[in-house]
Amino acid sequence: MSSRLIIAIDGYSSCGKSTVAKGLARKLGIHYIDSGAMYRAVTLYFLENNIPIPGPEELQDSVYDFSDALSKINITFQFNPISDFSEVYLNGRNVENEIRTMEINEQVSHVSAIKSVREHLVKLQRSAGKEGGLVMDGRDIGTTVFPNADLKIFMKADPMVRSERRFKELKAKGVDVLLEDVIQNVVGRDYEDSHREVSPLRKAEDAIILDNTYLTHEEQVEFVMEAVRKLALSNSTTS
Ligand code: DC
Repeated sequence: MSSRLIIAIDGYSSCGKSTVAKGLARKLGIHYIDSGAMYRAVTLYFLENNIPIPGPEELQDSVYDFSDALSKINITFQFNPISDFSEVYLNGRNVENEIRTMEINEQVSHVSAIKSVREHLVKLQRSAGKEGGLVMDGRDIGTTVFPNADLKIFMKADPMVRSERRFKELKAKGVDVLLEDVIQNVVGRDYEDSHREVSPLRKAEDAIILDNTYLTHEEQVEFVMEAVRKLALSNSTTS
């Protein structure tokens, strides 16, 4: 039964959603898709091709037609056995590292507030889940992409703890960055993602909250695995 499950993981920036999602996908033998990577890949394409990105104040009045740019964007995932992870490709090019820079961090919430971008990516995300057997993480997976997901998790953690985790990650990759800038970005993105007009970040009513401020990675995966077991049990007693 678990091989057909659709699990939606939403939550705030730098909550460790993708780490939990990857751990679950491995345990359950199902696919994992990082929907944030798709918004990041579109952002990279827009920056590289000088597509104007409206800020929150300009969005309402923006008349720019993004359909031509979107039609030229092909996003795919390919499993890399070395990193043990499905890496994202933009028009056939591996952009896994390029989409994780501060420059992309600063623009991605603006790009993901554009209605036509969201419509385009939600279509791709739904088609990836057609057959089931998928963990997807993001901001609107349980509310918009898969409102009928079998299991919905909403992750949160103290903003300072999240910023420190992101700061360490960037430093480990050799990115020269200040903790203050990371805090500002994490908090700013949370605000923008929660206040945009189209599919804002919010907890689905039927989502289970996972606050991981003080939890280890193993404890988080176990928390969700317990929810999967309960689900399997309740399905077996009702069928
Ligand atoms: O999960 P992440 O930090 O890589 O996501 C990058 C940005 O993409 C995030 O600030 C908001 C946006 N996003 C979104 O709006 N909807 C999603 N389903 C996933 C990400």
